[in-house]
Amino acid sequence: MEETRKPKPILTPHDDFKTNGFWNEPMRQCSSISFQVSDTKHRGSLSTDPSQIDLSNTKAAAMMMPIPSVRPVDPMLPFTQYLQKKDDDKLHILIGATGSVATIKIPQMIDKIFQVYGHDKVSVQLVLTPMAEFFIRGLRIPKNVKVWREVEEWSSPMTKPGDPILHVELRKWADIFLVAPLSANTLAKMANGLCDNLLTSLIRAWNPVAPILVAPAMNTFMYTNPMTAKHLQILKDEFKHVTVLKPVEKVLVCGDIGMGGMREWSDIVDILVDRLAEMKAKEGEKREDSD
Ligand SMILES: Cc1cc2nc3c(=O)[nH]c(=O)nc-3n(C[C@H](O)[C@H](O)[C@H](O)COP(=O)(O)O)c2cc1C
Repeated sequence: MEETRKPKPILTPHDDFKTNGFWNEPMRQCSSISFQVSDTKHRGSLSTDPSQIDLSNTKAAAMMMPIPSVRPVDPMLPFTQYLQKKDDDKLHILIGATGSVATIKIPQMIDKIFQVYGHDKVSVQLVLTPMAEFFIRGLRIPKNVKVWREVEEWSSPMTKPGDPILHVELRKWADIFLVAPLSANTLAKMANGLCDNLLTSLIRAWNPVAPILVAPAMNTFMYTNPMTAKHLQILKDEFKHVTVLKPVEKVLVCGDIGMGGMREWSDIVDILVDRLAEMKAKEGEKREDSD
């Protein structure tokens, strides 16, 4: 008698993610220069076309397909309680992160900022794009750093004129905005004035009296794509308040070696600190002039 064969379930990388929950594993094993998949044999056969993904390579393949974050957000509080700026005598540093693996460097950057200034002298808040939420999962962010996710932009709907709007209030709160890493996608949005999420709305609604520092991070071929040079040129010509922290050459997560890696996280913090010192010095000069 002919055996009736049950059709084999077709597993997608997401199914594998759901059953094995391995996303956090490579997160924990990242090296200092780049994000490493622990099993090197799984490198090198990634395809951007899901139908072409080699399912024997599911661990790596799943990395190609972000799924929305399921991590619960902080309890919904009136967001304005995080945004009191008046006379707290602290520096207000807003950090933005996008959908790049270099987002895993955010905790180190935050730690260094607190080491430099001390907790009583600086306040840090973090804004994530929906794709950055995926990369931040499982990372340790200090409790006193408010993490803003896309959903929170929409959690306090404006019902009457004068009601606060999150991206506008965050802009007012911040002395400086560091976007590190800046993905190719968000770079393109910046250059073209698109503002379809919390982070890009912040950039678009920014008051140019305060600086924005951006640290692009992308695959070498994304970086050498002619669009990248065009977008960076637009930032240089049109956005005088934006400073681009040029990427560096390094071994990238995908195994490619070349330009596009995010500047060393520690250097990024040093540049941020120098910029804030310059701003303080200028403020001091202005005050002296007006006395
Ligand atoms: C595992 C993985 C790593 C990625 N790394 C980068 C990266 O380093 N730089 C980049 O520009 N895009 C990277 N991407 C693609 C971005 O996540 C994608 O373009 C996304 O739309 C960016 O969204 P955002 O700019 O809104 O954060 C990566 C995607 C995946 C799946």
